[in-house]
Amino acid sequence: MKIAPFRIERYYAIHEFTAPYMLSSSDAESVTVADLLALEPDSAERLEALHLGYTESPGALELREAIAAIYETTTADEVVVVSAAEEGIFLACHELLEPGDHVVVETPCYESALQVPRSAGAEVSTWRRSAADGWAHDVDALERALRPDTKLVYVNSPHNPTGTSMPREVLDRVVELCAERDAWLFCDEVYRELEHDPATRLPAGVDLYERALSLGSVSKTYGLPGLRLGWLASRDRDVLSRIVDLKHYTTICASAPSELLCAVALRNRANLAERNRGIVLTNLPLLDSLLERQAARLSWTRPAASPIGFVRVHGVEDSTGFCDELVAATGVLLLPGAVYDEPDHVRVGFGRANMPDVLARFERWLEIGS
Ligand SMILES: Cc1ncc(COP(=O)(O)O)c(C=O)c1O
Repeated sequence: MKIAPFRIERYYAIHEFTAPYMLSSSDAESVTVADLLALEPDSAERLEALHLGYTESPGALELREAIAAIYETTTADEVVVVSAAEEGIFLACHELLEPGDHVVVETPCYESALQVPRSAGAEVSTWRRSAADGWAHDVDALERALRPDTKLVYVNSPHNPTGTSMPREVLDRVVELCAERDAWLFCDEVYRELEHDPATRLPAGVDLYERALSLGSVSKTYGLPGLRLGWLASRDRDVLSRIVDLKHYTTICASAPSELLCAVALRNRANLAERNRGIVLTNLPLLDSLLERQAARLSWTRPAASPIGFVRVHGVEDSTGFCDELVAATGVLLLPGAVYDEPDHVRVGFGRANMPDVLARFERWLEIGS
């Protein structure tokens, strides 16, 4: 299998663990193991007593039950636990796709959405959204990209990198278009439950369509990327069982302590998500004011969900140099839009508690240093 380098990870590999001031993280504020264990009275004891053996390949029952409770129609048998969403993308694409299959991917996107289907030999068409029209979802463009035999459509809402959400009527139309062709709908929902206004939350793909796969993760909304735990949910149990067959060749099962901690987190997910939504809602107005003051240089379509947004940097063709200079001078790390094939943009992250301080450092550099 050949796969193109993951440009986001390559850029972060240079700076993420040396730059002291992250201003582009896609995950919300993390918690300590002790904080997590404090959410349930007996969990610390259970963790200490846990045997570090293999767990069930589809995922520990306790965890699958906690995941199934997120959705309206699923049971624990309609969930497979994966070692983070990244593994879920890999397993689903390699299970569902064969060389020559046609796939449509909503872009710009998290690199795996494009490269993993390609690595399975699929021919990938893009459903490209554009900054010029506020990242609107052009359904006619999707219809033009689709073919009668399209095998899979990959959508991502709330969306990395723009932080926008798909309107409900668009999602319904996407489902219809998939159903007309019997295509799979892969719904990357890793930022779900971090809508800035919870009333705007979309139904999960798995609750709308029998050939949908909903991809979830504890990495983003709940701020627990270190657990490396995610899941796939689908009403098609056969496909999930084939995904487990493939998982026997990747990780066999997830990490036992992570599964236990993840079950605790998901049973208390409203609490974790609400804390992080509070951080996001405190930080977002600070970004609004900065963008107002710096309107000649920076602009965006305001995100409505997630802890990320995509900012246009005016007057530069490729923001990579801008980001490199910023991190070298101040230790503040943005993510250049070139990793999304949108080189005049940068990704900003506002889900961390120290964001006000980091943002002030960025603005000082804009005013005097750049
Ligand atoms: C849209 C999207 N999907 C999947 C992932 C992978 O998440 P995980 O950390 O759970 O592997 C990310 C991480 O940035 C993402 O932004």
